[in-house]
Amino acid sequence: MKKTILCIGAGYVGGPTMAVMADNCPDYKVIVVDMNEERINAWNSDELPIYEPGLDEVVKRARNRNLFFSTDIIAGIKEASIIFVSVNTPTKTFGAGAGKAADLQFWEKTARDIIEHSKHDKIVVEKSTLPVRTAEAMRRILQSNTKNLNFDIISNPEFMAEGTAVTDLQTPDRVLIGALETVSGQQAMQRIKDIYLHWVPEEKIKTTNLWSSELSKLVSNAMLAQRISSVNSISALCEKTDANILEVSAAMGMDSRIGAKFLRAGIGFGGSCFKKDILNLVYLCEFYGLPEVAAYWEQVVKINEYQATRFVSKILNNMFNSVASKKIAIFGFAFKADTGDTRESPAITVSKMLLEERATLAIHDPEALKNAKLDLADETGDISYHCDPYKTAEGAHAIVVLTDWKQFQGYDYERIFKSMEKPAFIFDGRNILDHKKLFKLGFNVFPLGQREYSHLTEIEK
Ligand code: UDX
Ligand code: UDX
Repeated sequence: MKKTILCIGAGYVGGPTMAVMADNCPDYKVIVVDMNEERINAWNSDELPIYEPGLDEVVKRARNRNLFFSTDIIAGIKEASIIFVSVNTPTKTFGAGAGKAADLQFWEKTARDIIEHSKHDKIVVEKSTLPVRTAEAMRRILQSNTKNLNFDIISNPEFMAEGTAVTDLQTPDRVLIGALETVSGQQAMQRIKDIYLHWVPEEKIKTTNLWSSELSKLVSNAMLAQRISSVNSISALCEKTDANILEVSAAMGMDSRIGAKFLRAGIGFGGSCFKKDILNLVYLCEFYGLPEVAAYWEQVVKINEYQATRFVSKILNNMFNSVASKKIAIFGFAFKADTGDTRESPAITVSKMLLEERATLAIHDPEALKNAKLDLADETGDISYHCDPYKTAEGAHAIVVLTDWKQFQGYDYERIFKSMEKPAFIFDGRNILDHKKLFKLGFNVFPLGQREYSHLTEIEK
């Protein structure tokens, strides 16, 4: 094999990215390391630590051929000439910038490990999403080495979305590679480009300077999230008028300048990136003395929080202002369909609010129950977790749909209705069910941004 690539951080980003890279580049040896031994053991087993459609096959093809998972970070650093860094960069919870800025301690520690154990020059690639100009700070740390080694820093942000990680990685819209405009920086960029050229057409590889690359990642996520908050804000207006958010989104989306994607109203965006990246952007703007710009982007997060709160108020208002001791069936806990990931899932907020109202929660999700249990571990209250949707809904007063899992559409709602308390409610926080059909079965149905289908009279309500 020509060269060894190392990736530090075997999480949702590092694991799938490197698996696809190894699969497409049999002439490279790809080592993925992580300090978390349990995670590495899982990557080496038949039960991978994350659920992603298609990932099992890719890992099976490449593992132990040219893809290796290990906890030996030091050996990896010594061997590789190209190091991708994909450690997590959570929002700072302490000190300056708490609640907004990124906590870079893992990144910095990784940079110091690289210096300590390197014996020859290396290319260090930022895969983690980082605040703009982090690369500069990292370059300074790496160049401070007293061994006379050269480290080139490359920014190569990852744009894959969870649930579609494998196809996104195999056929990306673009691969972005940012480098310093120095001879050595440009050479390093070419070496990273050569890797991607194994499977990505050249016209899809965009090269920029370092700062543009870092900023593009933050802004891409902020723009995507902004579309969701825009459409969610309008869903509130639709409920006050006779407009239907599905029709409004479809009509808007037909304008090719707007485009049809990412206009689905729901209970709000979750996931590890959107909120964190927007808050990073906000912090950056404040830091550079641009309060108006900061306030503009912060509003995207505020509308997201408003949407979840508004949804819970809708549940309460329509269930006679009380859910205390009532069983509520939660359908879906993952932050989106086709993943077991629950980071920043709006389901966490909604569940906690319902527990505060003393509801009894029965939670059903095809992939996320393990994470749901961890997320709600500190909550007091009556919570149960179920693989079976019918058990979840048995004796419940309401079903609350929080994730857009396709299989929810195929459940036998006639059977479910019969097993529930009456009046039976469905609050469809993702607008995925057939509302008219459910109404005919006897449910009182409350979608988002659309008319409700209720059998209750005005007086009862
Ligand atoms: C993370 C960030 O959240 C995201 O902003 C960035 O773009 C990529 O990295 P993700 O892969 O989803 O995304 O995070 P996570 O699943 O938490 O994985 C990070 C891994 O790094 C963990 O497995 C952790 O154990 C590992 N890690 C962290 C190290 O190996 N060494 C460290 O010093 C810190
Ligand atoms: C996102 C970006 O899409 C990806 O490019 C980046 O690399 C990481 O962050 P991810 O968070 O995995 O990916 O999933 P995404 O499909 O973007 O969904 C994010 C959230 O928005 C989910 O909670 C989803 O349910 C929600 N969403 C998405 C909507 O509410 N409406 C939509 O129309 C689209």
